[in-house]
Amino acid sequence: MSSPSEHEPVLLARVIEFLRSGGSKDMKKIVDCTLGLGGYSEEILRSFPDARVYALDRDSSAIARSEARLSEYASRFKALHMNFGDMEEVLDDFAPFDAFVFDLGVSNMQLTEAERGFSFQSDGPLDMRMNPDGSAQTATEVLERLSAGELAKIFWRYGEERYSRQIAARIEETRKRGSPLKTTGELVALIRDVLPAPAQRKMGTHPARRVFQALRIYVNEELEELETGLASVRRLSSPEAVVIVVSYHSLEDRIVKHTFRTWETEEKRGTVLTKHPVCAEFEEIEKNFKARSAKLRGFRFSAKSGQKIQRQTK
Ligand SMILES: C[S@@+](CC[C@H](N)C(=O)[O-])C[C@H]1O[C@@H](n2cnc3c(N)ncnc32)[C@H](O)[C@@H]1O
Repeated sequence: MSSPSEHEPVLLARVIEFLRSGGSKDMKKIVDCTLGLGGYSEEILRSFPDARVYALDRDSSAIARSEARLSEYASRFKALHMNFGDMEEVLDDFAPFDAFVFDLGVSNMQLTEAERGFSFQSDGPLDMRMNPDGSAQTATEVLERLSAGELAKIFWRYGEERYSRQIAARIEETRKRGSPLKTTGELVALIRDVLPAPAQRKMGTHPARRVFQALRIYVNEELEELETGLASVRRLSSPEAVVIVVSYHSLEDRIVKHTFRTWETEEKRGTVLTKHPVCAEFEEIEKNFKARSAKLRGFRFSAKSGQKIQRQTK
């Protein structure tokens, strides 16, 4: 098992399997759109000794750590500090690519560093930016700036939080009292105070999980990034490129499923490789809690439209 600041890659063996079986025999250039601590990149570099890996991350500390960790592959590994939503412009000179891999969300390193503000389990500043060097607003700024109505919408839309309006109203009250929320601990305490005790007991998860997820998605514009990233993939891919996406909540999964289906049925660009999403086995979930919500979907572009490629049914 990995230590908390490390990141145990989720569904790694399946990702490699899909690259091998779904991708072209001659993988020359692969994009790891979410480098993190380099778990996927490392295994891709090992498994495809002739391939170059272009790895992207919006978090400069992930870039620095992975570059150091993967230095033995320096001649075929290029790490780029950027949003994958911007890849069309940046990677255009290196295109076309034979594969794209996305492992969405935050890494263990980001989650466990309290000062990044992602965790409801440890106290830290309410930041939540994946790229702390960028211009995005912090979660504190979002909670200070938006109206109660706007906050409630965010908590509902991105977190499906049933008490979104009550939580947002309480946040507005604290602001009016001149004591806006500054730390993750203060936000957790407020949510615990607003949610009725029986509802908290029934949740089966941390009472602040939904609001934290919603704020993180909003602060980092995660869904817009995913849509733009997938649109760029379509333009940067080689004729038979494979795309693998591992997502962790239904909002992301819906976008991936819909995009792949549109590519297959409306645009006739290739074949969805996963009739149903691939999930982690019990043994992996036991070792790595994050794997419980992972869903892998794959797509393969095809040179000839309508060409049949064997689907994975499991
Ligand atoms: C789940 S981790 C990836 C872990 C990686 N597969 C591994 O095995 O170490 C997700 C990473 O993607 C990055 N990320 C998320 N959204 C991004 C985006 N839109 N552009 C670039 N990087 C992003 C995060 O900063 C984080 O480091």
